[in-house]
Amino acid sequence: MSNYFITATDTDAGKTLVAASLTAAFVATGKRVAVYKPISAGCQLIADVLVNDDALALQQQANCQQSIIDINPIAFAEPIAPHIAALKANIAITTEQISAGFRQILANQADITITEGAGGWRLPLGNGHYLSDFVKQQQLDVILVVQMKLGCLNHAMLSYQAIVNDGLNVVAWVANCPAEMPYLEENISYLQTAIKAPLVARFGYIDSINQAKQLFDLSMLTKPKI
Ligand SMILES: Nc1ncnc2c1ncn2[C@@H]1O[C@H](COP(=O)(O)OP(=O)(O)OP(=O)(O)O)[C@@H](O)[C@H]1O
Ligand SMILES: [Mg+2]
Repeated sequence: MSNYFITATDTDAGKTLVAASLTAAFVATGKRVAVYKPISAGCQLIADVLVNDDALALQQQANCQQSIIDINPIAFAEPIAPHIAALKANIAITTEQISAGFRQILANQADITITEGAGGWRLPLGNGHYLSDFVKQQQLDVILVVQMKLGCLNHAMLSYQAIVNDGLNVVAWVANCPAEMPYLEENISYLQTAIKAPLVARFGYIDSINQAKQLFDLSMLTKPKI
């Protein structure tokens, strides 16, 4: 069983696009894939359930019949930093709560689980805790999405080094290039040398999950670790 955690250089950097299309790519190879979006902020209340677009996008591609509440147990209506939303709601988000939700995901006995983070690597939960604490607790394999734009090398290296310093494996990275960037090739080359993990997909402007799912080289994720 492989358990992947999708993080990124920033919010809006392409985590959902990558997580949903990677889910679709594995499903297309016949795998059972369960998805998890532990924390979201920015939801609509539908039939008494706070429904987040990322959770819906993941649910659409996965194939384990998971409910939205299972996929996204911690949901806030307002699109703000989750620890602030939690403070306003007078609740505490704990790593244990997120790990308990993950055990529910594991109960699906899928071949692969794909968890989408929130924001970037060091997302605060409040009370001195971070979402990265959960990733450490569960020892998930990390896939880093880099939104290719000026300034991304710094963001990518800070994220990569923080993940490695947390003792976790970055098993792959994705270059997400929705817009033109001067010297894109040179920037990608730099990261290919600096990040000791394969570039598993390179996205230009993407119109659909169907298009995106074909861009992964899944063999890079199934190779034994060096
Ligand atoms: N390569 C791309 N081509 C076209 N649109 C893209 C591309 N990458 C991202 N987008 C669009 O940019 C927006 C942000 O992407 P996405 O939702 O995947 O980011 P995210 O990292 O999951 O954000 P969040 O932190 O809110 O979860 C979405 O509307 C998405 O469709
Ligand atoms: Mg997202």
